[in-house]
Amino acid sequence: MNNLSDLDINTLKEHNILITNELLTKLNDGYPLQYVVGDAIFYGYKYFVNENVLIPRFETEQLIEQVLNKNFKINKVLDLCSGSGVIGLTLANLTNAYVDMVEVSHEANEVCKRNIKLHHLENKINLIEQDLFKYQIEDCYDLIISNPPYLTHQDKVSPNTRFEPDMALYSDEDPIKYYKYIIDQVALLNNYKLVAFEIGEEEADDIIFYAKSKNINNISVKKDYNDKDRFIFILK
Ligand SMILES: C[S@@+](CC[C@H](N)C(=O)[O-])C[C@H]1O[C@@H](n2cnc3c(N)ncnc32)[C@H](O)[C@@H]1O
Repeated sequence: MNNLSDLDINTLKEHNILITNELLTKLNDGYPLQYVVGDAIFYGYKYFVNENVLIPRFETEQLIEQVLNKNFKINKVLDLCSGSGVIGLTLANLTNAYVDMVEVSHEANEVCKRNIKLHHLENKINLIEQDLFKYQIEDCYDLIISNPPYLTHQDKVSPNTRFEPDMALYSDEDPIKYYKYIIDQVALLNNYKLVAFEIGEEEADDIIFYAKSKNINNISVKKDYNDKDRFIFILK
């Protein structure tokens, strides 16, 4: 290999300084560090992320924790709105379960596929690229879990969320429409043991009211560590 000339080295140095300055400006502006380094830690595992997926949240780790604390045997999981795959892949890592995941964004699914490979979970994961609102839930899952978009543009959010995909965050015209669609289908199922949702802190009452209107009554709300209503569990 040819040695680099002094000119090449100087050009490289200048280039690196430019890139570093650009990155520092972005980080200063609130651009998430996880997007810069390309990965995030979730429940102790590393997952690839980029601007096409939500950066996994601490609350979602609590969702996993609460599900595992329920101590039931999980053979088959359905993770709806799976994004980078952190929920489904973490459950596949921690249990013997097979996991189906449904996500509409092709770009998010490309990230998820990298995560499936990273964790050598090809034999346990089935990733389905589909719009949730066209997806029929089969009656074969012990656990149906979802952290769908639940914000509206009226909600107070950290300005840094502007770097994350709108479709991962917002459900504007009806903030609980994802839950309603899932509940409509759950109402027809017999074989699940648990449905677990992460929810917006103002949404618990509306979701419970809707579930009860579908004759689903075995339902509970749990708070996150900030004392906000954050999770809903439906037991069969
Ligand atoms: C709040 S993010 C959750 C991602 C991941 N499950 C997590 O907890 O980090 C919601 C995800 O739902 C996906 N999504 C939005 N609308 C959808 C739809 N109609 N069908 C399927 N997925 C959808 C978004 O692309 C995004 O990846």
